[in-house]
Amino acid sequence: MDIRTVVTQPYSDQKPGTSGLRKKVPTFQQPHYLENFIQAIFNSLEGYQGQTLVVGGDGRYYNRQAIQIILKMAAANGFGKVMVGQGGILSTPAASCLIRKYRAFGGIILSASHNPGGPNEDFGVKYNISNGGPAPEKVTEAIFTNSKSITEYRVLDAADVNLDRLGCFKLGEMTVEVIDSGADYLELMQSLFDFDRIQQLLTGGQFRMAMDAMHAVTGPYARSIFETTLGAPAGTVMHGVPLEDFGGGHPDPNLVYAHELVELLFGEDAPDFGAASDGDGDRNMILGRRFFVTPSDSLAVLAANAKLVPGYRDGLAGIARSMPTSQAADRVAARLGIDCYETPTGWKFFGNLLDAGKATLCGEESFGTGSNHIREKDGLWAVLFWLNILAARQESVEQIVKEHWQQFGRNIYSRHDYEAVDTERANKLMEGVRAQLPTLKGQKLGSYEVAYADDFSYTDPVDGSISHKQGVRIGFTDGSRMVFRLSGTGTQGATLRLYLESYEPNIAKHGLDPQVALAEMIQLADQVAQIRTLTGMDQPTVIT
Ligand code: G1P
Ligand code: ZN
Repeated sequence: MDIRTVVTQPYSDQKPGTSGLRKKVPTFQQPHYLENFIQAIFNSLEGYQGQTLVVGGDGRYYNRQAIQIILKMAAANGFGKVMVGQGGILSTPAASCLIRKYRAFGGIILSASHNPGGPNEDFGVKYNISNGGPAPEKVTEAIFTNSKSITEYRVLDAADVNLDRLGCFKLGEMTVEVIDSGADYLELMQSLFDFDRIQQLLTGGQFRMAMDAMHAVTGPYARSIFETTLGAPAGTVMHGVPLEDFGGGHPDPNLVYAHELVELLFGEDAPDFGAASDGDGDRNMILGRRFFVTPSDSLAVLAANAKLVPGYRDGLAGIARSMPTSQAADRVAARLGIDCYETPTGWKFFGNLLDAGKATLCGEESFGTGSNHIREKDGLWAVLFWLNILAARQESVEQIVKEHWQQFGRNIYSRHDYEAVDTERANKLMEGVRAQLPTLKGQKLGSYEVAYADDFSYTDPVDGSISHKQGVRIGFTDGSRMVFRLSGTGTQGATLRLYLESYEPNIAKHGLDPQVALAEMIQLADQVAQIRTLTGMDQPTVIT
């Protein structure tokens, strides 16, 4: 076997963020850059000799080249087998499903999620552990530490593996199995949802849906599930062919970037149901006819209706949401008499709660919803969950959400993003807000009174690990909140996220546009954080 040990120099910027290491493609293409990071991952693991690794990505530019490098490095480092998606493609949820089902040691997922792809756009590498979920902070810290002192990496000198042909191949001593993950994923979905009932809904002639795969990874999965298996008409899945640059788009399923779907659902003769997913298939957006469901509400509605879905019929152990996600789910948990956990932003914080059986459903305001079926958020799972509820209740999306608000009150919610802000200015803004925290409590801000003001810290109830500085919260006596955070997934400057929430029990006010309902709080946030002055922007770049 031709294993080469290559001498290398460390890079100082390989610190994984909210979801793995994300950089521009040219950064990853620097000599030894990707190799260093992959070796740093392997160096921080123990006991993987002879074990199985799952590898695949969202198909973006550089996916195939990166996979060839990873395969040869895995072979040189002693893995027994790598399961790789056909064409190098694996959605993030499918990768999580495979790791669990085949008891792999872990997985490497190549994705920058919803960020654009292409020669000058984003690429990313994420390591997932044996439970199928993103590596927890102690692992990502070990990887970062390793990356800063790395002196060599190991790689096998061999020809590239044909990623398009299904089957098992030898790479040195290691086996490479090229698989079509669609079948495993479909089987998992069939074990959770009432496919017969959903099929009746989709083929009954009364109900139409549109699913926008945004030229990203879910295209093939969505076609196989909705069109082939469930009988929805051909064309139900829009933009279903994965492209290396996502067709030049931004594969982020929100009201701004999924505008074609939004126009369709808000247009004349709109379908009854619309959904979109992101670059790597873990996010989802849910739309009814002329109706947008916020991800926070979506989590709450799924939880309140879980009994209608076979996989969740026996009830939920608990619900977990990221801190900035609205408190709508907390109200459902209280009604159901189950615990609701508040975790820092990022799916990795749900892993322990799911493993310990403390939570069944999890969600983030950033269009992420999922459950204990895998250890990642799961876009198509959320779409199927909604379809199952729609099929069981025979009501529209709008009716279901409005009824939910009537029962629980409405947590009016919005997120304002200020993208590509100068990093120094963004840090100054956060420091400015932090400096006010000790004196804010009890103060009147406009018509609100501050009940608490802190920098969110989380103690994991399972392993006791503590994560500090997870976002600044200012909470008011009526339950309203504003939260300030800097993004941990961007690749250009800093992104300020401002999360706004107010609680409205009055049904007469449930129809209000959130930007109108939250207008005073938006203005107060600017007053507290000097957003317009410090960012130099009059408006957020994205409002969801
Ligand atoms: C963003 C979202 C967060 C999500 C992450 C990965 O992270 O806000 O909820 O888990 O992407 O999809 P951020 O850029 O805010 O750090
Ligand atoms: Zn994603």
